[in-house]
Amino acid sequence: MTFPTHRPRRLRRTERLRGLVRETRLSTSGLVYPMFACPGNNVRTEVSSMPGVFQQSPDQIVEECREVAGLGIPAVILFGLPEKKDETGSEAASPTAAVQRSIEAIRKAKLDLVVITDVCLCEYTSHGHCGVIKDGEVLNDPSIALLADAALSHVRAGADVVAPSDMMDGRVAAIRQKLDENKFSDVAILSYAAKYCSAFYGPFREAAQSTPQFGDRRSYQMDPANAREALREVELDLEEGADIIMVKPALPYLDIIARVRERFDVPVAAYNVSAEYSMVKAAARNGWIDEQRIVLEIMTSIQRAGASTVLTYHAKDVARWLGKC
Ligand code: PBG
Repeated sequence: MTFPTHRPRRLRRTERLRGLVRETRLSTSGLVYPMFACPGNNVRTEVSSMPGVFQQSPDQIVEECREVAGLGIPAVILFGLPEKKDETGSEAASPTAAVQRSIEAIRKAKLDLVVITDVCLCEYTSHGHCGVIKDGEVLNDPSIALLADAALSHVRAGADVVAPSDMMDGRVAAIRQKLDENKFSDVAILSYAAKYCSAFYGPFREAAQSTPQFGDRRSYQMDPANAREALREVELDLEEGADIIMVKPALPYLDIIARVRERFDVPVAAYNVSAEYSMVKAAARNGWIDEQRIVLEIMTSIQRAGASTVLTYHAKDVARWLGKC
């Protein structure tokens, strides 16, 4: 017998009742705020396609980090823009580059923040690819050695977690080995394990000035049509020593987040990427949507799918809104 014995509406009657039986509870404790570090001093340039997001010099990064920590957000992830780009992205591993300086400044300010760094070459290479190029091809093995150098330089500057986003094969193992050899066996690796070749990275490429100068990233990032392959990618990264694995983008790939969550008992992160943010901002600015409700629903859906950690440009807004709830 179902109706009239069973009436699911009984538990939807009041907000108190709904809250009591809610399955997914939003909180700021799993949020990571992405930031873009650039060279110089006192620089703060808004990214035109990402309102509220800035390219900032290390001194400004620290100021915003103070605000982020004050809002109860536990972590930031730093991306870097170089002074000069070259064929091999050599500034990625420079101890005096914008990311390394920003980490040092955050440490010096003694902010209570987990500092994660994105490890990739695309912002640093003149051709904009995530690895080194020979005869128009992105080479795998020479690239992972450079990525490991970049990761080590971030950790030397004080990073807590390194996050390789390049999608070269074997990079997690190369980074793990490099960190261990240098006595950084306590530093965790958050791997962008299932990173799709997505048009949703468009605005980020303006922010990070990392648009490929020829071709695209299809020979290393995943085909959006594949789901089983994501499980394989995650499995390989875990074997290589990843501590947290990530699915990216988030909203168009909720099925992947759910499948990864089901299959693997490790922390799962999701990246709510730049175009996911820009689309919401654009519609909100036009008065077409209720920004707060849309963003909180998006955050709920990503967590409901199975991600316990969410990288999002909305983090500061979410923290403010939840603080008022
Ligand atoms: C670097 C990198 C990208 C993003 C994170 N790390 C861009 C890309 O792969 O082209 C995208 C993040 C976003 O869109 O917010 N490889």
